[in-house]
Amino acid sequence: MNVLGIESSCDETAAAVWLGDHLASNIIASQDVHHRFGGVVPELASRAHIQHILPTVESALSKANLDKHDLDGIAVTYGPGLAGSLLVGLNFAKAMALALRKPFVGVHHIEGHVLSNSVLAAGPVPPFISLVVSGGHTQLMLVKEWGHYQILGRTRDDAVGEAFDKVARMLNLPYPGGPAIEKLAQGGQASYVRFPEGKIKDNELDFSFSGLKTAVLYYLHSLSEDERIEHRADIAASFQEAAIGALAAKSLRALENHHIGQLALAGGVACNGTLRNKLTALSAAHGFKLFYPPPLLCTDNAAMIAKAGLFYLQRNMTSDFSLSPRPTLPLEQNNPFSQNAKCDARVEHKSENSS
Ligand code: KG4
Ligand code: ZN
Repeated sequence: MNVLGIESSCDETAAAVWLGDHLASNIIASQDVHHRFGGVVPELASRAHIQHILPTVESALSKANLDKHDLDGIAVTYGPGLAGSLLVGLNFAKAMALALRKPFVGVHHIEGHVLSNSVLAAGPVPPFISLVVSGGHTQLMLVKEWGHYQILGRTRDDAVGEAFDKVARMLNLPYPGGPAIEKLAQGGQASYVRFPEGKIKDNELDFSFSGLKTAVLYYLHSLSEDERIEHRADIAASFQEAAIGALAAKSLRALENHHIGQLALAGGVACNGTLRNKLTALSAAHGFKLFYPPPLLCTDNAAMIAKAGLFYLQRNMTSDFSLSPRPTLPLEQNNPFSQNAKCDARVEHKSENSS
């Protein structure tokens, strides 16, 4: 099947073409307009998507050397994300589907991230544990089969990428904060301050990063101007150590609790070398197999959306034109399929205590 993927849930306008059995193109138009604001400005994001979407889709088709009439279907992110941003991608996909008389299917952004390990390589085989860590999400799930997910834990407050971005601002680093903190931390001592990892009493696999973020803020306030400058790298490294410590410990716990031997990382924070190294060391020590995508497939992209859409389009599970953007869409409520589509996807949300 030839599938066009479209992703526009946040500040990346992306299009990709899955051609038969491989990824033929993967185009991402990033929006630099947000950098001077230190975060994504939703209104500016929608406008930039409108400007970028047509050239991005055209460029994905031409790089794949595919005529749009030879597409078998279109896959598009319909949630979660910024309402205006989602609307641009979804309406564009609907218009294309209508004009070309092709089927289209809405894809849940997180399901896309889960599939990102399977775009260029065979990837993990269910059952496996997936850790999705990005600017908007921090989620541990058990992938029982493709399309069947059990949510094991998620953040109660900030996503881990959001914590990197906010701490970066405190340290006067540019947006996005993750890569900047990682770079600064290379020259710092991770044991300089012991920041809290964020413990949750009623579900040990849930995460919390707002306490860690506040602890960094208070710590910075307790220092003199000179100390703040002198120990910037140490503070970045200590923050990163605590954030990654929580991700690694809970991932290991999930693997052990469910007797699973494969862990798949995904999302923008999965680019982080310290996280990858820590989990690589744990995988050697505990004997599980670790998967992580190349950096271009960790951050938001349309290749993962095309791959997730392919799964549903192959099963004749498609959406109809009444599908609307869903800015806040828990994976367990994912149901973009038209009434007459046979739905064999299932998501369960069980906390550790109730499972
Ligand atoms: O997946 P993504 O592109 O967009 C969302 O769906 O949110 O993730 C972006 C997030 C940002 O918060 C960014 O700071 C973080 O991923 N990030 C990193 C690194 N690269 C990107 N965090 C830590 N270390 C990195 N190297
Ligand atoms: Zn994402």
